[in-house]
Amino acid sequence: MKTVLRYRSYAKLNLFLEVVSRRPDGYHELETVFQTVGLYDELTFESDCDDIILEGTSVEVPSGQENIVLQAAKLLSDRYDVGKGVRITLDKRIPVAAGLAGGSGNAAATLTALNVLWQLGLDAATLHALALELGSDVPYCLVGGTVAATGRGEQLESLPALAPTWFVLVHPQLHMSTAAVFNHPDLNAPATQSENDSGDAFVACVRAIRAGEALSEIHNRLEEIVFAEHSELEAVKQGLLDAGCSVAGMSGSGPTIFGICASQSDADAVVRDFSEFSTSVVQSVDVGVERVT
Ligand code: C5P
Repeated sequence: MKTVLRYRSYAKLNLFLEVVSRRPDGYHELETVFQTVGLYDELTFESDCDDIILEGTSVEVPSGQENIVLQAAKLLSDRYDVGKGVRITLDKRIPVAAGLAGGSGNAAATLTALNVLWQLGLDAATLHALALELGSDVPYCLVGGTVAATGRGEQLESLPALAPTWFVLVHPQLHMSTAAVFNHPDLNAPATQSENDSGDAFVACVRAIRAGEALSEIHNRLEEIVFAEHSELEAVKQGLLDAGCSVAGMSGSGPTIFGICASQSDADAVVRDFSEFSTSVVQSVDVGVERVT
């Protein structure tokens, strides 16, 4: 009998992102606060297929093994000698290479769905370890919500959900390479953790969220690299603040710039100033991956 599972994977924002130090393995030690929001991709998993195939790809979303959805499926198939196929259809709505972890979320949905479809019975710790093999953000994407993260971004500490919050997302038509931003020679990333005195700001951000207080700023260390080359993004951030957002900043390695508003009507008013851009008005959500049917 054919089984069809449908999942959503939500976009994430970084409410705080500090690069603490450069690691010997080529990654960076981070302090970040992740938040998922109501912008999502949909993935359908159908069992009546002998091979692992992916449909719904485009120029922007590659169809081969460079697609992280296929990497996730292959990882499970090989590791657990599954011997079954799946037809995966991706309905892409989250902008690609935009600092929103869209691909990482798709990978998290694929691990979650195939664990069910292929009846693997993997527990949360095993899924977390597999997710980290696919990318630094993927473990977070399995859980979503409001989470403080350290290490590569995989050491997760759940925080209380934000009070209902509206976000305006502005999507400039640029694709950013996360690796290029992190490896930029101007990135202020000390070689050792002790040389970095930024920890206080992270602690203050986490404390504010725990206390249910409004954020006083969106700090993102990667802005200094990205804004130096794309001053129009800094102008978008300033524009969001001028239009009435309480705070604004870049997500991940960009180019998405977001601002926080107190209400949907405030967010709808702010977004009118950005009619030349693709935009989204969304609320925070408390999941990363969600089964729809
Ligand atoms: O883990 P992921 O494959 O998503 O990371 C993409 C790139 O971003 C890495 O190859 C690395 O250059 C950079 N990165 C980093 N430190 C992190 C996460 C990502 O330097 N904590």
